[in-house]
Amino acid sequence: MNNPGASAAEARRQQQFIEEGRTLVQALGERLGRGPTACVVTFGCQMNARDSEKLSGILEEMGYALVEDEDADLLLYNTCTVRDNADQRLYGRLGRASGYKKTHPWMKLALCGCMMQEASAVEKIRKSYRFVDLIFGTHNLYRFPELICRLLSGEATPVVDIWNQPELIVEDLPAKRVYPFKSGVNIMFGCDNYCTYCIVPYVRGRERSRTPREILREIEALAADGVSEVMLLGQNVDSYGRDLPETERIAFPALLSEVCRAEGIRRVRFMTSHPKDLSPELIETIVREPKVARHIHLPLQSGSDEILRRMNRKYTAAHFLELVTQIREALPDAAITTDIIVGFPGETEADVDATIDIVRRAQFENAFTFIYSPRRGTPAAGWEQVPPEVAGAQFERVLAVVQETARERSARFTGSVQEILIESVNEKEPGLLTGRLSNNLLVHFPGDASLIGRFERVRLTECRGFYYMGELVRG
Ligand code: SAH
Ligand code: SF4
Ligand code: F3S
Repeated sequence: MNNPGASAAEARRQQQFIEEGRTLVQALGERLGRGPTACVVTFGCQMNARDSEKLSGILEEMGYALVEDEDADLLLYNTCTVRDNADQRLYGRLGRASGYKKTHPWMKLALCGCMMQEASAVEKIRKSYRFVDLIFGTHNLYRFPELICRLLSGEATPVVDIWNQPELIVEDLPAKRVYPFKSGVNIMFGCDNYCTYCIVPYVRGRERSRTPREILREIEALAADGVSEVMLLGQNVDSYGRDLPETERIAFPALLSEVCRAEGIRRVRFMTSHPKDLSPELIETIVREPKVARHIHLPLQSGSDEILRRMNRKYTAAHFLELVTQIREALPDAAITTDIIVGFPGETEADVDATIDIVRRAQFENAFTFIYSPRRGTPAAGWEQVPPEVAGAQFERVLAVVQETARERSARFTGSVQEILIESVNEKEPGLLTGRLSNNLLVHFPGDASLIGRFERVRLTECRGFYYMGELVRG
């Protein structure tokens, strides 16, 4: 997998397709009498979003103008399949996209991402959504320039290219960031954990780490391009590096420290930790490194040991609570957030009580609660399912406690002055800006759009549930 020679050769090959694509896009522009537009829509997680930035960068280099409106000359849906509602969202959008294609018959519609690694989904799309022009998966994303060229040079559609296995990690393709001042950085791809509910290992493949050298090179280049906050991305960052050759192997805490040394980087986030692997060294590193954000996302999934065992999570509720205690002691200002699944096969009311008990004790700053969604090919999908109405009722029970504890917990910073990275103009109230605290909470405050991208200090004047109102503190 780590084959620098082959990766560099492939990057050069795709660069040539970008050149070729430029001519094709220009020709399309001449036919249309205007510059061609492209729209990339992200359906999934931060990794999916980072992939979208790479796909957007390639399209822009080829000469497309990137737009938000979906009736563009090229529309690309970067799909997710972690739960069934992600699949259903795609089908809904495809219905709408077929409408655009009727009024713009030259329009190209492309699908990629995790859902396209699912053979049954691709089969359904090829049968029932015949207007789709291009389908590719997660393992060959770096071949996007080549695929676009095939599409634009008139190859019969749909052009379909899906690989069952990853081959190379290809570095150095362009990317177009959504935010000029912050960026996700993949440190590893795939997942080896095979939690019994989860489709990610099947659609993203085995765990592969990028080398520290490549990661740091990318981060230095991002910093030189104006990025001051990075988020290191992996499905289980605590197992980073285990697959690297011995000469290049470092553990995640060491990588995190190295990233903090990169000039121009002021804040470093990471996602996601796994409770079975989160180490004391990681907590010590965060304590030592002020640039590391005071936020740990630590998915609990369930508070019942029996459910955790059947989920193949490899930790107990007691171990999870022990980690929370260690984090709270070492990092009193840090926010701990989590993911919870309700309605896993065989889950009883007592199991849900156990989850609620952990929620009360851990005092999460936020928790994302999901109803279990059976995924094809995963072990748990074949087990006896909890009836939907029971799962729904249990979900409501957990949600109520999550909201109550998270509100209480988040309010504890009221009155303090904190550093924020100012991210955007508030969508609902244009006089307000939105900034992100180190602990990942958002704060809205009056200010001028020229401040976007800067680190400033704000006083948190009022907590409104999961966000704050505040005011700038100058000087
Ligand atoms: N690697 C991360 C997150 C992966 S997916 C981890 O280990 O936590 C993000 C979240 O989606 C998971 O934490 C889990 O809570 C949820 N999830 C994954 N598969 C699911 C499924 N089949 N049904 C419901 N929620 C699911
Ligand atoms: Fe899915 Fe588990 Fe891997 Fe997370 S660690 S991506 S939940 S298999
Ligand atoms: Fe992410 Fe969804 Fe794929 S959560 S890894 S985009 S299945």
